[in-house]
Amino acid sequence: MMKRIAVLTSGGDSPGMNPAIRAVTRTAINFGIEVFGIRNGYAGLLAEELEPLDNLMVSGINRVAGTMLQTSRCKEFHELEVQKRALSLLEKHRIEGLVVIGGDGSLTGARALHRLGVPVVGMPGTIDNDIAGTEMGIGVDTALNTIISMVDMIKATASSHSRCFIVEVMGRGSGYLALMSAISTGSQVAVIPEYRLNYERIVELLDVRFRTKHTNCVIIVAEGVCPGHEFMQRLMDTGKGRIQQDVRLTVLGHVQRGGIPSHFDRYLGSRMGEMAVLALTQGERGVMVAQVNGRMQLRDFDDILSRRKTIPADSIRLARNLGIEVGDAVEVA
Ligand code: ADP
Ligand code: F6P
Ligand code: MG
Repeated sequence: MMKRIAVLTSGGDSPGMNPAIRAVTRTAINFGIEVFGIRNGYAGLLAEELEPLDNLMVSGINRVAGTMLQTSRCKEFHELEVQKRALSLLEKHRIEGLVVIGGDGSLTGARALHRLGVPVVGMPGTIDNDIAGTEMGIGVDTALNTIISMVDMIKATASSHSRCFIVEVMGRGSGYLALMSAISTGSQVAVIPEYRLNYERIVELLDVRFRTKHTNCVIIVAEGVCPGHEFMQRLMDTGKGRIQQDVRLTVLGHVQRGGIPSHFDRYLGSRMGEMAVLALTQGERGVMVAQVNGRMQLRDFDDILSRRKTIPADSIRLARNLGIEVGDAVEVA
């Protein structure tokens, strides 16, 4: 049986990372395994910022967004020599298993450590939902809830002033947040990197909305397509003199990461955290905990990191059937 494991969070923080840390800590302690928290992601590992965690230290963190361990983006961790240094530091601190909670970049770093012989299990902690092999990442649901509350609020002004609002949402290279939030807010357009955008159709749609006396129009733009202001400029250029509504832009930004973790993310973080420890104790290595058909499963790093996660086809169909413009059927990716 392992004696000591460590846990770190890396990359962008996501709501639900704390429940995941709590579940790793409590499950490990329940198995009689010591748990160390590594502060500040891979940078903290290199700086030897390790401290033992206990049940009390992770008490009450489920309702807090962000990560109690803090996180970082650590450029030097791309280098093999630096990864080897991390390996020797883990050995120095007698860490026999490592849990990494983070996005695709962080999991690529975790795979590098695995290849050097560190027993690593990963968890998908990112609002972007861009990790293949798992239906959901930890934080996606909360981020969506935050986005839809913001869009609902924007709609009050849009309706009162008969305006069109462009709302830029996060997601890195993925259109998941944009598509899903467009569906649940009843927005008119989802501009996503996976599908080819047709500016002319959006101009026509705005015209129809205006003529049929709809008071508002909301276009959700995924940041992976282009920054919202660029999108707005191109739309205005395409519709020169034809767009009758006032058009405004709101960039939601980092509020999308700060929502109080939803039930779904608390539960998902807890389930994945528990599973990560069970996996380590059972000798699993180089795998990520994934949600598949609603259940916890393990997926090889090589498998999840070699594929691009696609947008669910049934969500595209749903959006279209609800009258949402999602771009051309041709998949770009
Ligand atoms: P996320 O994990 O949210 O996708 P990043 O892509 O910024 O965020 O990655 C977080 C960190 O993971 C990076 O700052 C770096 O320390 C590590 N990382 C990312 N890509 C690699 C890689 N190819 N090799 C080793 N480490 C990596
Ligand atoms: O990966 C999570 C994410 O919030 C992306 O959606 C976004 O592109 C990026 O991180 C922003 O990064 P930063 O917090 O470094 O500005
Ligand atoms: Mg990422």
